[in-house]
Amino acid sequence: MPNITYISHTGESRTVTADAGVSVMQAAVRNGVPGIVADCGGECQCATCHVYVDEKFLGLLKPAEEDEDAMLTLTASERKPNSRLSCQIAITDKLDGLIVTTPEIQQ
Ligand code: FES
Repeated sequence: MPNITYISHTGESRTVTADAGVSVMQAAVRNGVPGIVADCGGECQCATCHVYVDEKFLGLLKPAEEDEDAMLTLTASERKPNSRLSCQIAITDKLDGLIVTTPEIQQ
């Protein structure tokens, strides 16, 4: 099963083992990882699951769809080129070792 590492804005790191098919947001919530608020429960309507994806994994992700891209314009923290909504990233075996960082505002 893939391992996903979440790094807080202060540099604290937490690695969880996730089932393929769940989202990066769901794996965080199920494992009590702080910094992924997920107010809308994964409906792509809140942007409180915003993460910065480690650049070496960006090419492995499907591009953001229109609704995710629109929601990323509303993030509380700065949108960067590696910004994604973690509820829209489905975990696959290829993403084993994925590293995401949570923005400072999401604690
Ligand atoms: S959980 Fe609300 S947009 Fe991802």
